[in-house]
Amino acid sequence: MYRTHTCGELRAEHAGQEVTLAGWVQRVRDLGAMTFIDLRDRYGVTQLVTDDKSDAGVRDEVTRLGREFVLQAKGRVRERSSKNKNMATGDVEVELTSVRVLSAAAVPPFTIQNDTDGGDDLRMKFRYLDLRRPMVQQNLFLRARMAHSARSYLAQQGFIEVETPVMIKSTPEGARDFVVPSRMNPGEFYALPQSPQIFKQLLMVAGFDKYFQIVKCFRDEDLRADRQPEFTQIDCEMSFVEQEDVLNTFEGLTRHMLKEILGVETASFPRMPYPEAMGSYGSDKPDIRFGMTLVDLTSSVKGKGFPVFDGAEYIGGICAEGCGEYTRKQLDELTEWVKRPQIGAKGLVYVKMNGDGTIRSSIDKYFNSDELKDLAFHFRAKAGDLILIIPGEREKTVTALGNLRLEMGNRLGLRPKGTFQPLWVVDFPLLEWNEDNSRWSAMHHPFTSPKPEDISLLDSDPGKVRANAYDLVINGVEIGGGSVRIFDPALQSKMFNVLGFTPEQAEAQFGFLMNAFKYGAPPHAGIAFGFDRLVSMFAGLDSIRDVIAFPKNNSGRDVMNDSPAPIAQEQLDELHLILRPAEKK
Ligand code: AMO
Repeated sequence: MYRTHTCGELRAEHAGQEVTLAGWVQRVRDLGAMTFIDLRDRYGVTQLVTDDKSDAGVRDEVTRLGREFVLQAKGRVRERSSKNKNMATGDVEVELTSVRVLSAAAVPPFTIQNDTDGGDDLRMKFRYLDLRRPMVQQNLFLRARMAHSARSYLAQQGFIEVETPVMIKSTPEGARDFVVPSRMNPGEFYALPQSPQIFKQLLMVAGFDKYFQIVKCFRDEDLRADRQPEFTQIDCEMSFVEQEDVLNTFEGLTRHMLKEILGVETASFPRMPYPEAMGSYGSDKPDIRFGMTLVDLTSSVKGKGFPVFDGAEYIGGICAEGCGEYTRKQLDELTEWVKRPQIGAKGLVYVKMNGDGTIRSSIDKYFNSDELKDLAFHFRAKAGDLILIIPGEREKTVTALGNLRLEMGNRLGLRPKGTFQPLWVVDFPLLEWNEDNSRWSAMHHPFTSPKPEDISLLDSDPGKVRANAYDLVINGVEIGGGSVRIFDPALQSKMFNVLGFTPEQAEAQFGFLMNAFKYGAPPHAGIAFGFDRLVSMFAGLDSIRDVIAFPKNNSGRDVMNDSPAPIAQEQLDELHLILRPAEKK
């Protein structure tokens, strides 16, 4: 038996017991007469001690120990004379009677503790050492508990877990595919699934009725804090349901997980139509923990002689409560902030509600004080508030204001970790105009059903057609998305036609799904949660990398094993691949 107890287990009541522990040396403190060793495993840290009464062999062995050595340590538990209240095992220590080095360790490149001295790159290169740090381990323990919680809830609701293939034919979800060449089929490729979308729909045709899977998905897209090239979804599909059934089921799952994992009770989730989310929050994933909603000023301030407003399609603003004291420097800095390419505004107009009831603005030249009062009235602004206004092209400006709102929310501490306000955003447009290739593309995916009452608009005004699609949003993060599916082959053909597929192209790409629908497809709908995002949200972290055991960096590289990497010429030959000279490494 390697150990009788873990390093997190011993308490005062164990005093006097002979125990065997195993773990890693966190640190050794040699105080001359006494030596203390902190031994760490997944469960905690226990202090081991030798003194001048200890066996000479043991004392000798202890002098050879270094950080991260793996030990088996035997000894007797005793109560400490000076207890450490910050450690779960801080009431006791183990007087060593024997030490066996199971594995020596080179000096680690950074200290293995929560407040490590290792930078991001170094920790990623030695991720297996980073993963020894308790706070990183906690994230993965949380992830495992959440996966378990989701699985047991869904199983209890009658969902069946089915594995779908990883080598598939391309499924369009709007990103690029990662592809796998086929040795046995020269010139042909599998794609890694961007999601199991088509397979889960086929499972509905097959009669499974309620499917789920905690599944890896792969998307070759630009990476950000909330995006990895391979990520995990809780992917689900249900038959004989309407939108409301899906929302209720997955609201149930979310509330169950919040309660079981975090002990957080949530009220029922509001449902917000997409136009309201965009108009009031400047985002299709609004953070509704705070107000500061957008006000459309276009009709009240346009045409009043200020050229910047008069030339703008849309003029909107927000009111930051209590920011009326902002200095010139702060306002300039905020103006620079909105002008950054990521935000893209051309400028920022401010209106300050002074404490003495007067109003000062950057447009004093064009608007008299009565007009400014009128403007402030739209925001219900009071003394001490700051109104921030951006004019410009409607869509871009609304989004810029939405970003400014979040930024001001951050600055004002209105977005605290540990508070959760989920909502459903519903009634998304079915289609969006794709400037690059001048045609409509599906906002969600091509299998999403239009609202029945909007089907007639598909020919006359496709941009106005609303979808039976929905997103779960928590605290400004899109956690999940899904839709009611088209199950009528005629409507699906029409949809492909609107999306610019010829019947031949549609047949080549989706023929097998269309064919399946000929044999009796049930009405069905589904959703997928981004599991990494959900875990990082629960953990109060900003990046999903922290909740993934072995993540990729922002260039899609695994810096630990240095992939992607070139492959041998023989392997290329076998796969019938020829590299252009410039690509040879
Ligand atoms: P969608 O494309 O909206 O829908 O994806 C569902 C959820 O997956 C998460 N997500 C990601 N997480 C990390 N890194 C990424 N690169 C990434 N891309 C997406 C998001 C998102 O809300 N098949 C449909 C679902 C359906 O219709 O049932 C789908 O995949 O949290």
